[in-house]
Amino acid sequence: MAIIDQTSGLAARFAMDPEFPDRVPKERYYDPDFYQLEVERLWPRVWQMACRLEEIPRPHDVVEYEFLDQSVMVLRTGDMGVAAFQNACRHRGVRLVQGRATCADGFTCPFHGWCYTVDGTNTRVPRRKSFARHNMEPGDIDLVPVRCETWGGCAWINFDNDAPPVRECMEPSASILDAWKVESLRTEKWYAARLPVNWKLAVEAFVEMYHVVVTHPQLDIPGMRYSLRPDAPFEPRAFIDAEIDYLRVMSEGMDGMVHANDVRVAEGLRGMELPADPNLAISTWNRALNDAIINWHRERRADIPDINQLDEQGLNDTFYQCFPHYFVLPMYSSASSYRFRPLGPEETLMEIWSLARFPEGEEPGPPAPPEVWDAADPRWPPIPAQDFSNLPRQQQGLHARGFEYMRLNEHLEGHISNLERTIDGFLAGLPYERLLPALRSVNNSPFDKPVLDLGL
Ligand code: FES
Ligand SMILES: [Fe+2]
Repeated sequence: MAIIDQTSGLAARFAMDPEFPDRVPKERYYDPDFYQLEVERLWPRVWQMACRLEEIPRPHDVVEYEFLDQSVMVLRTGDMGVAAFQNACRHRGVRLVQGRATCADGFTCPFHGWCYTVDGTNTRVPRRKSFARHNMEPGDIDLVPVRCETWGGCAWINFDNDAPPVRECMEPSASILDAWKVESLRTEKWYAARLPVNWKLAVEAFVEMYHVVVTHPQLDIPGMRYSLRPDAPFEPRAFIDAEIDYLRVMSEGMDGMVHANDVRVAEGLRGMELPADPNLAISTWNRALNDAIINWHRERRADIPDINQLDEQGLNDTFYQCFPHYFVLPMYSSASSYRFRPLGPEETLMEIWSLARFPEGEEPGPPAPPEVWDAADPRWPPIPAQDFSNLPRQQQGLHARGFEYMRLNEHLEGHISNLERTIDGFLAGLPYERLLPALRSVNNSPFDKPVLDLGL
């Protein structure tokens, strides 16, 4: 499908070529006009993860969500729902909230003192009578609401009043992550990176496994389940050691995702007996580890699903996209989570959360917003540090005169094509009925996904 402007009928430059869906034109990652098309056609129509709900735990807590040149305030209502407003005073536009606040008494503009209730109603205009009546129309001086819904432990906003509800737009990730009880996770760590790359380039560094062996060689541990060779003899003891090594390297490498508690639970199983048959050994180990982790958390009254049951239902992958910019990476009890925000054609803000389960009543307080680090900051945990070391070089390499397009492996990197073509669907201005099947394909586990027919 080419990007065809529904009003002018003109095809946009740098659309994905329907004949070669495994090639991505390089200009999509830096051309200012293409970026502007995304600003106008993609972002105003999609659900954006505006904040985690633990950032606004009490009634009238409010947090500012900034995106491109927009600012939205997201607040907890008195009944523990959420609401959102455009963050601009109706007088002369001053942003009413910066960062975080509580607004039990509503909002007072610091410039001339206009006041608004928590539901956005204007209650005070100093020297009201001296304004012309047409500028004081009731309703016209209230805060402008923004669509806001909750799902998955987060508040989501959308500038498109015609978009389906957030949960419907995130299927099947939504149902799978609900079964995994994603909503009961809380923030344990929160990182932010300013990356000198296009937002899609940043996203696409994380949606395939093809890079893992070379970029993260420490994850290629001989003897673990992913590296078992059919011709090599199977050693149950060595297998268990390799599995536990893998979990520890993941946990330390991500500063989360596999929680340190889960690694300790795995350590406790080191002496267990396994069948000699490799397939039976792998499934026995997985079941035992899942059971031990479930029991550890339930003894502490933490909310955790039966992850063995999810395994049986095929609902226990380690990566789920929520198009376009939010991701959850569940492993055992815990998860990493990513959000990407464009800052310009070649600059992106990426956040990483380490999410964990806590006993009821022992959840941590609102997480402190992270300091934003550069890609090369020495404080990054090893795995993101490795991914971030490639990204600036890739963004620079794309500009090479002799480089025209990325050539994707249509089996291992198909998700990138699926993602790019779904974006083209938005850029073409297609209605949501036509976009939903593509969203169903993209909002799923991206690893080793082939290039799919998206029906666009
Ligand atoms: S800009 Fe808000 S009161 Fe004037
Ligand atoms: Fe990676």
